[in-house]
Amino acid sequence: MGLYGSRILPALLDWAMRQERLLDGRRRLVPKAHGRVLEIGVGSGRNLPFYAGEASVVVGLDPSEPLLRMARRQAAAAAVPAFLVEGSASALPLPAASVDAAIMTWTLCSIAEPLQALVELRRVLKPAAELFFLEHGLSPDPRLALWQRRLSPWWRPLAGGCHLDRNPEALLREAGFEILELGHFTIRGPRLLTYMSEGRARPTLSVND
Ligand SMILES: C[S@@+](CC[C@H](N)C(=O)[O-])C[C@H]1O[C@@H](n2cnc3c(N)ncnc32)[C@H](O)[C@@H]1O
Repeated sequence: MGLYGSRILPALLDWAMRQERLLDGRRRLVPKAHGRVLEIGVGSGRNLPFYAGEASVVVGLDPSEPLLRMARRQAAAAAVPAFLVEGSASALPLPAASVDAAIMTWTLCSIAEPLQALVELRRVLKPAAELFFLEHGLSPDPRLALWQRRLSPWWRPLAGGCHLDRNPEALLREAGFEILELGHFTIRGPRLLTYMSEGRARPTLSVND
């Protein structure tokens, strides 16, 4: 990993993720997580202050060591015990059916194998467990979507693998999640990145469950 990946990108990501315009979403979503919580792509730990008493413990997973170093500071000050683990959502270091709730904020865009990661997530979620998500993605405006598709390959290497043109709810459904709540909104900022999907999903019950 060069200087960009080891120092500059983590600092830029942390700067982007501590923007005030993201706070409302964090405040709304994160306290909904209950019991044993898995946060996928914990990054620099900007959700950690928002876990409430409903969560008994949080495991925060991320492949980036520099970001996890920053998250450690947030974990030390958090009200809920948080354990930070280096790893990828594509191969979760957790037993099957061991998690009550998962949190994922602005992360699905950056996972290289999103379907594999979501199938892995299904494995570790208990049958009634829920995923609370807040992600940016592909705009319903065709002109904007065209630019998101055009620019995504240029943006990805600069932004830690972030895709501008993913559809979070389509990926969730394809991976076998049922979406229980879904809302869309836009926030202030560059339009390529500001169309949001926020919601709650759970593993679809198969006939064998
Ligand atoms: C834009 S940041 C968001 C960080 C954090 N979720 C937040 O809300 O501040 C995207 C995060 O996804 C993480 N990420 C990328 N690939 C991943 C993977 N395969 N598994 C888990 N996290 C991943 C990155 O390291 C980064 O921390």
